[in-house]
Amino acid sequence: MTAESVPKGGTRGSRIAAGPRLAIPARILAVGAYRPGRGVANAELSRTLDTSDAWIVKRTGIRRRCAASPGETVVTMGAAAAEKALAAAGRSVDAVDCVVAATMSYTGQSPSAAVQIARELGAKRVGAFDVSAACAGFNYALDVARSLIAGGSARHVLVVASERMSDLIDPGDRTTAVIFSDGAGAALVGAYGEPGIGPMTWGSDGSLAGVAGQDLTWAHFRDTPGCRGPYFRMRGPELYRWAISEMPAVALRAVDAAGLDLADLAAFVPHQANLRMIEAIADRLGLPGHVVVARDVEDQGNTSAASIPLAISRLKEECAVASGAPALLLGFGAGVAYGAQVIRLP
Ligand code: UT7
Repeated sequence: MTAESVPKGGTRGSRIAAGPRLAIPARILAVGAYRPGRGVANAELSRTLDTSDAWIVKRTGIRRRCAASPGETVVTMGAAAAEKALAAAGRSVDAVDCVVAATMSYTGQSPSAAVQIARELGAKRVGAFDVSAACAGFNYALDVARSLIAGGSARHVLVVASERMSDLIDPGDRTTAVIFSDGAGAALVGAYGEPGIGPMTWGSDGSLAGVAGQDLTWAHFRDTPGCRGPYFRMRGPELYRWAISEMPAVALRAVDAAGLDLADLAAFVPHQANLRMIEAIADRLGLPGHVVVARDVEDQGNTSAASIPLAISRLKEECAVASGAPALLLGFGAGVAYGAQVIRLP
């Protein structure tokens, strides 16, 4: 940078942030949820698919999932969840500096879902962008929000995880159609007097890309007459085995990074992929009996990135956990990509 190009107010070698404010702590101030009106029970699916209520409940714990109507889009559901988070925090949209959307099912692609959500909210002059980390999307977007606040770029960030998985799921594929669901969860993250979002432990392994993900590209669909899809496909048992063997150590590292022990936790909120899997991970972690384990999946199914904030919202609605209590969040899925952090509950 030449002397001439130094921004106004700056000089070569001058500070770019007030020293003590360089790492401003952040916390989730409130969460909001949007669950589409139409619930789909297992019995309804068994009328069109070779499946049964007994199989789905035994293998996944899911009894019901949600199906978005045409008007319930990634954008409208995300904005509705964000409005609830703002209302719960007692903040107006004018307080928001940036909207970060976590989604893998936004078929619009550009402009980003976040920009559209900001417009729907009436948020003016806010930063807005999407994060793509599949079912770990909320964890990643939350850490981005924490970092934006820590670095002084924002005071309030709306993290909006919104998924319309029904756009990506082959209705004839019983290995995914019984599991995935639509919905949105949002968190208003704000600067706070003490840290409420711990450091993230994360990772990815692209060699497992074929285990879960979109089977075709949009370009293939465009160029191939009669092509159906693209659809999200999953080799469930492989993903199951990988997650229960690898994720407990990732979760433990996040607890350690937060300077806590498992006994300090009040809640465990993993990605709501499958209740059997959630229980297996909780068991391998050796969670003490007092830790509440989120089971939103039973009534909501697997909403990918939206599943963690939806599960936190339910814990709040049920008064199952106290505000300020530490909760371990763990996201994992397609990619594979994963991440975990400990938060203080809103
Ligand atoms: O959100 C991203 C992260 N997602 C995950 O991590 C998901 C991880 N995986 C899972 O949750 C489980 O693997 C599933 C729920 C997807 C499947 O459960 P599973 O116990 O691993 O079943 P399976 O795939 O091994 O299938 C057992 C049997 C098979 O039949 P055979 O070969 O034993 O005759 C399947 O064909 O069940 C059959 N099957 C079904 N039967 C009735 C598979 N899907 C269904 C179904 N209804 N929906």
